Amino acid sequence: KQKQKQLFLDLGQTDLGQRTCKKCGFLYINGVEADDKEHTRFCKGNKANVHISGWNDERVHMKKGSSRILEVRGNDAASHVKKLLQIKRMIEDALGFIEEEEFLERNHYIYLENDIVVGCACVESVNTAYPFSYDNEIVAIDKSKPMDVHVGISHIWVHSNSRRKGIAKLLLNIVRQKFMYGMTISLAHCAFSQPTKDGVLFGQNYCAP
Ligand code: ACO
Repeated sequence: KQKQKQLFLDLGQTDLGQRTCKKCGFLYINGVEADDKEHTRFCKGNKANVHISGWNDERVHMKKGSSRILEVRGNDAASHVKKLLQIKRMIEDALGFIEEEEFLERNHYIYLENDIVVGCACVESVNTAYPFSYDNEIVAIDKSKPMDVHVGISHIWVHSNSRRKGIAKLLLNIVRQKFMYGMTISLAHCAFSQPTKDGVLFGQNYCAP
């Protein structure tokens, strides 16, 4: 049987084909009914997206095309902190409650696509970490083997629509380059707080030599 292929009728429209919605960040094929419907549903239900349209004094660590990585800290201007707390709510939807004071003490590396927040790494200064094993979603920590580390990844989150595009990897590369002045932190000196299944799968790839 011959495989069906999606066809487009070009009737002169200028916006046919793959596009990313500037409002919600959804990647879809414009002109394909199922994709259009899915996008409309997603866009309507997605009032929670956080927009950062550009501050004069933003700490930009990377800029490429329509994406950029910013660093925001809890003692930045009130308008910046307000955005951080909105991001906190999105992360909490995926990872559960985060204590506000502790959250604001961390440094936040934020990945934006068309000014929409699609990823965030929340990190802190940590000196000691312990190896753990992960089996059947159970994390077992071995406290007998303390290890020297320089940075702790408290939370890492990427929007469900933007996963497996290397965003978490890029965020942690920037963290390792920028967190300590004048040096790049080696993979061996990065620690993760208690990870989820996604976190373990990501970490195993990211930390593999
Ligand atoms: N399954 C299998 N392998 C994975 C997965 C997964 N779900 N996620 C990442 N990887 C591996 C892959 O090898 C991937 O490379 P590939 O896509 O070329 O195969 C590699 O890691 C790099 O992945 P990224 O694309 O950089 O990761 P992504 O941007 O998708 O973000 C993250 C990963 C942050 C874990 C995302 O899935 C997420 O936000 N999940 C929900 C929140 C969460 O669980 N966060 C981790 C909590 S633990 C903590 O915060 C310390």
